[in-house]
Amino acid sequence: MTTNLQNDLLIRAAFSQPTERPPVWMMRQAGRFMKEYWAIKNKYSFLEMCKTPEIAADVTMLPVDLLGVDAAILFSDILVTPEAMGGQLSFEQGVGPRFANPVRNRADAEALRTDVLGELQYVIDAIGVIRERLQGRIPLIGFAGAPFTVLSYLVEGGSSRDFKRTKLLLNNEPELAHLILQKIADVTIGYLNMQIAAGVDAVQLFDSWAMALTWNDYQTFAHRYNTYIISKLDRKGVPVISFCKGSSVFAPLMVEAGPDVISVDWNADLRNVKDSLPQGIAVQGNLDPFVLYADKKVIKEKILQLFERMRGQDGFIFNLGHGIMPDIPFDNVKYAIEVVKDFRF
Ligand code: CP3
Repeated sequence: MTTNLQNDLLIRAAFSQPTERPPVWMMRQAGRFMKEYWAIKNKYSFLEMCKTPEIAADVTMLPVDLLGVDAAILFSDILVTPEAMGGQLSFEQGVGPRFANPVRNRADAEALRTDVLGELQYVIDAIGVIRERLQGRIPLIGFAGAPFTVLSYLVEGGSSRDFKRTKLLLNNEPELAHLILQKIADVTIGYLNMQIAAGVDAVQLFDSWAMALTWNDYQTFAHRYNTYIISKLDRKGVPVISFCKGSSVFAPLMVEAGPDVISVDWNADLRNVKDSLPQGIAVQGNLDPFVLYADKKVIKEKILQLFERMRGQDGFIFNLGHGIMPDIPFDNVKYAIEVVKDFRF
């Protein structure tokens, strides 16, 4: 169990222990909706920010200092693992991530390297700086991308609306897909264990685009690898959070992979999901992030509605169903966090 945290609400909730109120953090809390983020981003490229420990720590701390969240999340990206494996990654303004050398055939897949943890040392250095800044005030969440979601970026060469090439690969060349997925999974295990050894207090596995898959394909190409990863984590009392878009449907499978927390998208009623899970599995979520564009009165109503549904439930972490969008007003995000922090079960 994590000790010495001044605020351990997130850890207690993740292990389904009682808390006086739900802990709150938000996916993509360290991002473009903050002018303070832009002040840094205007000076460096996104990858420079990720790879310079002092800068990654500065950005990680923005929502801690400006929003008062109950957990920090390491400032990095799920695509740093495929970059270390040989992907030529760039982030272009208005385009998003791009791999100049997409993985499209067996030779490309075989060229992906797996002995790459040394190249991710900058993440470990960032964790060290962040821990010094946090001084145990709140937990630090580490994370990685799940193999299916990472594969989709490698295969598509960037973001995709329909995952056409990815699905074509799964359908026509499943063995090739498994070769790539296995390599990503092996790197991800080492990468997450390295973060745990460096002192993160929780880890989250992001399988953002799982909702593109059928039930069977989710089982074969996502769940199998997520299960493998989670089974190999050196958890030492560090809770594991499993997130995907599609969790409203896939939660029963996600739980079989052995995480402590299922992070739920905004489609399902969170209480119904919680009730359908075994005792002792916590849920995280699941406010529709678009609510944060609305009037403050509406924001408060929707949060309290969610809390009414979750009243009396241990094992509840407040979050969004997906990340904060870059044009959501900062004030609204701050207000939502205040509403959560004023609430008592
Ligand atoms: O949550 C946090 O604040 C911590 C940092 C974090 C980032 N990316 C920073 C980032 C985390 C946890 C991620 C995870 C991530 N990255 C996911 C999974 C979460 C999710 O949203 O589903 C995915 C799919 C990515 C891939 C990625 N990175 C995309 C598609 C993009 C571009 C489009 C977009 O939404 O921004 C990025 C870039 C990125 N990652 C930015 C940030 C702050 C924006 C970079 C910029 O300033 O232009």
